[in-house]
Amino acid sequence: MSAYLIVNGLDPYLHSFDYHHQMSDIFFESSTKKDFLNLKEKKAFAWKYLDFYITHYPQYLWVALDGQKVLGYILGMPFTLDSSLYSIQPHLKKFEYLYSDFPAHLHINCHHEARGKGVGGKLIQRFIVQVKDLGLNGVHIMTGAESRNRDFYIKLGFHFEMIQDGVSFMGLNLK
Ligand SMILES: CC(C)(COP(=O)(O)OP(=O)(O)OC[C@H]1O[C@@H](n2cnc3c(N)ncnc32)[C@H](O)[C@@H]1OP(=O)(O)O)[C@@H](O)C(=O)NCCC(=O)NCCS
Repeated sequence: MSAYLIVNGLDPYLHSFDYHHQMSDIFFESSTKKDFLNLKEKKAFAWKYLDFYITHYPQYLWVALDGQKVLGYILGMPFTLDSSLYSIQPHLKKFEYLYSDFPAHLHINCHHEARGKGVGGKLIQRFIVQVKDLGLNGVHIMTGAESRNRDFYIKLGFHFEMIQDGVSFMGLNLK
């Protein structure tokens, strides 16, 4: 893999080509959900975990680029307790009692050819620096309790873990 850049969601360069289509391909390729009843359901799924964030929190989007090829992305928001998010992701209630300690959350995916080469680690660092600057207590992710990517988060400092109904809540303390 040649040298790559990490650009912010507000960077005009990102908007000079079709980065969104590539992000969407990476999102669906990385997702464990593969079957959709129709296009409407597929779009609603992408809205929940991708387009909601790009639309409302573009400043927290970071994209790793090799030229105009998207290698991976991270997106998220500083305060999970946002009613517009709650209405599309009602399962967030499950861990509500932990959001004061770990208010920010993120979603990250890399292109399958770009995995295991440090891109994900670099993307997470960008997001962490950004939310740490806001003085927040911590950041969390949610993944499957049996998912292989748990090791990735543990290596990056997500040492708090709470498992409920097959979902693992992993938190990184920023204080
Ligand atoms: C998980 C993911 C974002 C990690 O990004 P990446 O660029 O592959 O990870 P990095 O190369 O930066 O790896 C950082 C460390 O985590 C480890 N690691 C990465 N992915 C791992 C995995 N799936 N399982 C176990 N360890 C992993 C690496 O060994 C590396 O450790 P090292 O620095 O000691 O070598 C990426 O592999 C991916 O998109 N996977 C598929 C989708 C996914 O699981 N997304 C997260 C949804 S919650």
